Amino acid sequence: MYALDGKVALVTGAGRHRGLGEAMAKRLAAEGAEVVITDIGAEKGQQFAAEHIGTTAEMDEIASEIVAAGGTATPHICDVLDEDQIVGAVKKAVDTYGRLDIMINNAGIGYLMTDILNLEQKDWDAVLNVNLRGVFFGIKHAAQQMIAQGDGGSIINIASQAAKRGFAGAAAYVSSKHGVVGLTRTAALEFGPHNIRVNSICPNHVTTGLGAWQNEHFSAAGGQSEDDYLSAMQSRIPLGRVGLTSDIASTAAFLCSDQAPYITGQNLDVSGGEEMH
Ligand SMILES: NC(=O)c1ccc[n+]([C@@H]2O[C@H](COP(=O)([O-])OP(=O)(O)OC[C@H]3O[C@@H](n4cnc5c(N)ncnc54)[C@H](O)[C@@H]3O)[C@@H](O)[C@H]2O)c1
Repeated sequence: MYALDGKVALVTGAGRHRGLGEAMAKRLAAEGAEVVITDIGAEKGQQFAAEHIGTTAEMDEIASEIVAAGGTATPHICDVLDEDQIVGAVKKAVDTYGRLDIMINNAGIGYLMTDILNLEQKDWDAVLNVNLRGVFFGIKHAAQQMIAQGDGGSIINIASQAAKRGFAGAAAYVSSKHGVVGLTRTAALEFGPHNIRVNSICPNHVTTGLGAWQNEHFSAAGGQSEDDYLSAMQSRIPLGRVGLTSDIASTAAFLCSDQAPYITGQNLDVSGGEEMH
């Protein structure tokens, strides 16, 4: 529907089943893009507990599933904390498929959440460094490649509803996602003259691996069952349901396609109407 034939995409944090990155990578491949699937690779650094991140085996499986479905994908380990690894991931796209047209900065951590009085610097730094600095590295090196190619490109950053309002108990996450909004606007200004469009998507809740942890954490913190917590959430959403990975994947496919040539610098709520600004 969005005809991404001939386009090459790189998605960070796309190596976890049920994740937004997996869904976006699969959708882009289904639209014809050649996709580099990257993730931290759980057995590599082990800086974060394995239950919160995609394993290398999962990442390889996701790439194989795309190929089995008739698409084109290659897996590649890339820790977004490390600028050299981002440079390496962009190089992987260029070496494998000849160019880079679409960069999706999706990798993020949505745990390490506590109230400000109990928030330690190491957790603040971990969240800000993955969610904001990692996006900065991704934008910088994707844009460099796209400028060298000379025919534009599309960069999509996955922000959050938490980029648009505060959430008690999630200061580092909220701050990182608000930062992504400012970074998106600034990058859109700097790269507009190169026809590189930079947008972010702001999802509300999706029950991915990260989302499942948040359901457990915030329902327990509020003394609610997970069912009650989710029902209360749904009752606040005009469209009456939480988000699906497919909602985000179809938005990404649209934004990076030639159907959105005049959209840049936007931080698009995909939240069933829960967020409207
Ligand atoms: N699920 C939600 O409700 C929701 C809502 C709004 C925004 N988001 C954002 O969407 C993005 C994807 O989250 P998800 O819900 O699909 O969760 P997820 O846990 O499935 O995906 C996050 C991915 O990021 C990877 N990652 C973590 N640290 C990394 C690092 N240093 N380098 C490379 N990869 C790393 C993980 O391995 C994982 O595969 C995140 O940025 C998240 O903040 C999620």
